[in-house]
Amino acid sequence: MTRAEIIQRLQGDVSLPALPEVLLRIDRMLKDPEVDIKAVSSLASTDAVLSGQIIRMSNSAYYARGGSHLTSLQPAIQRMGLRALRGLVFALTLPRMFHDDGESFPYRALWKHSLAVSAFAAELATEIGASPAERENAWLGGLVHDIGALVLATLQPREYHRFLQDLQERSDRSAQWNEQELPDWERETFGIDHAEIGCIFLRERWRLPEPIPEITRLHHSLGWNEPLPEGVERSTILVVHVANGICSHYGIGWNPAEQEGRAFQESAWESLGLDLDRVEELLEKAKTSLGIAETLLSEGE
Ligand SMILES: [Fe+2]
Ligand SMILES: [Fe+2]
Repeated sequence: MTRAEIIQRLQGDVSLPALPEVLLRIDRMLKDPEVDIKAVSSLASTDAVLSGQIIRMSNSAYYARGGSHLTSLQPAIQRMGLRALRGLVFALTLPRMFHDDGESFPYRALWKHSLAVSAFAAELATEIGASPAERENAWLGGLVHDIGALVLATLQPREYHRFLQDLQERSDRSAQWNEQELPDWERETFGIDHAEIGCIFLRERWRLPEPIPEITRLHHSLGWNEPLPEGVERSTILVVHVANGICSHYGIGWNPAEQEGRAFQESAWESLGLDLDRVEELLEKAKTSLGIAETLLSEGE
């Protein structure tokens, strides 16, 4: 399939999941500054699986922090806060959207990686003093940044599987491929990479608003020379890029055999004004992100 054919298939392919209506409605509702918790709770309660997951998450060590055991939705949402809820409903829902055949794609590893990047990007956003809105975007952008790989694997399951296997064989044992090298190889093979197809998918199929599609498109290349559309902060893209690199570098990548490799562009780290001496401390936070990722992933089962 050529690049044009892949993009054309993307528009109407029925094997690609639609974003659940309840998610879109919750998302719209949470953007309203006047939103009331009762209305959100009543909307979320229309999705039984999601409500159960929210209640269980509110009782997890991360959110409960020694508080009482909750059994209903509204106090659960109250405990987590409406700000956290937006990212959380996406994190709980998206991993069950794509079909996992259990063998041709490292599905579980990809979601574990994405959830860890998401949580770590949000930590980094706080670290650089980003606004709460930017922190939320970092969370959601981190969660979906590699969704293009799932799109390619859904549109061309056999070809993408073979592509990953070929890459594995081509790499010698001391240097397994890592995610940072993927876009070049993907463009050579499919004419498009997971960052660009992911952006088109999020924008045209899921209709997610900016900056989420742009974060996805630029999470590897960063697009230093491109002007960014209105409402897209370069720092959010950089935060997701750095979180992605650090998570992959320390073994939370979606290639199960991935080894330490080039993690991220140093210019991104510098531009965010992060202190190299803080790496260790931030790594501890990455481990917390992994803990959250694992809790969310097991909740999704
Ligand atoms: Fe990626
Ligand atoms: Fe990634």
